[in-house]
Amino acid sequence: MRLQHVYATCSNNESLLIGVKMKIPHPIPYQGSKRWLAATICELIPPNTNRLFEPFAGSAAVTLAAAARGSAERFVLNDVHAPLMELWRAISERPAELADQYERLWNDQRGREQLFFNEVRAEFNKSHDPAYFLYLLARCVKAAIRYNTKGEFNNSPDNRRLGANPATMRRNILEAARLLRDKTQIRCGDYLESLKDAREEDVIFMDPPYQGVSKERDARYVRGLAFDDFCEGLKQLAHRKLSFIISYDGRTGDREHGKLLPASLGLERIEVLAGRSTQETLLGRRSETYESIYLSSSLLARLDSTPRTAFENAVNRGQLSLFEGVH
Ligand SMILES: C[S@@+](CC[C@H](N)C(=O)[O-])C[C@H]1O[C@@H](n2cnc3c(N)ncnc32)[C@H](O)[C@@H]1O
Repeated sequence: MRLQHVYATCSNNESLLIGVKMKIPHPIPYQGSKRWLAATICELIPPNTNRLFEPFAGSAAVTLAAAARGSAERFVLNDVHAPLMELWRAISERPAELADQYERLWNDQRGREQLFFNEVRAEFNKSHDPAYFLYLLARCVKAAIRYNTKGEFNNSPDNRRLGANPATMRRNILEAARLLRDKTQIRCGDYLESLKDAREEDVIFMDPPYQGVSKERDARYVRGLAFDDFCEGLKQLAHRKLSFIISYDGRTGDREHGKLLPASLGLERIEVLAGRSTQETLLGRRSETYESIYLSSSLLARLDSTPRTAFENAVNRGQLSLFEGVH
């Protein structure tokens, strides 16, 4: 893991070490990654957590941050998207080989980048080879996974970028592999299926597709998730007394994105400041965007019995707003 030391200069001009920032590796470029939220989520994982489950893994931003901090003993990564989980398998099981393959593709593209992207995309659509997928994600517009109705990856290259430099990509792949080695299970399937063996001493972090993209024909994600089905799944998880954290929609200003999860689930809702909406700024309005985070009652009971210094500090600094009771 790369550590970045943060210094402040004192009045006598001496430098004082005030903290050590962890550089978390991110080998998979991914639209909708929760990198920005990962440190906050880690604060909500109680000590002595056995396994951290991430059943909507995507680029696994929270698992990587939790592994770097030692927030759980072991990890379970799952996503319904098979090529993505094959890519995670390649990162964990043969990182040096994957980094070599990426480097070869990256070098071979030089001078005919657009044509080369199209050739790799056609090959990926035949073989689902993980190295091709990684190259496509590194080069495509907004790192967005898009498929057509025939199930073919159809996003276009971003011609302003060549994709991560091979040395940077190698560092990210090797470091992620080191963090996950010997303590991570990789699964592929529906989120509820992947949680069948979750127990009370584990924690589950869920980041399902936003309600807005969960229509039946969903071009952004391989599969959306209907609101009512998700609520039914959560009811089962709460009944099993599992500790879970959900990141689900939010609001910009006073405009809610999607419906709130129902009070009958007994969840606590927190809002986390995500930043200023660029769209709203373009329209001449200043609106902050907040992400809704829901905590299960079993998780809250575990957190209540442990000191929550960093989390409480974040609340006090106004980075988190805590709601009284259930929204
Ligand atoms: C918002 S993204 C997760 C992003 C992730 N938190 C990150 O940091 O990159 C949602 C993910 O859920 C997956 N997904 C959609 N429906 C699913 C289901 N029923 N079961 C498991 N995964 C699903 C999608 O393939 C997508 O990767």
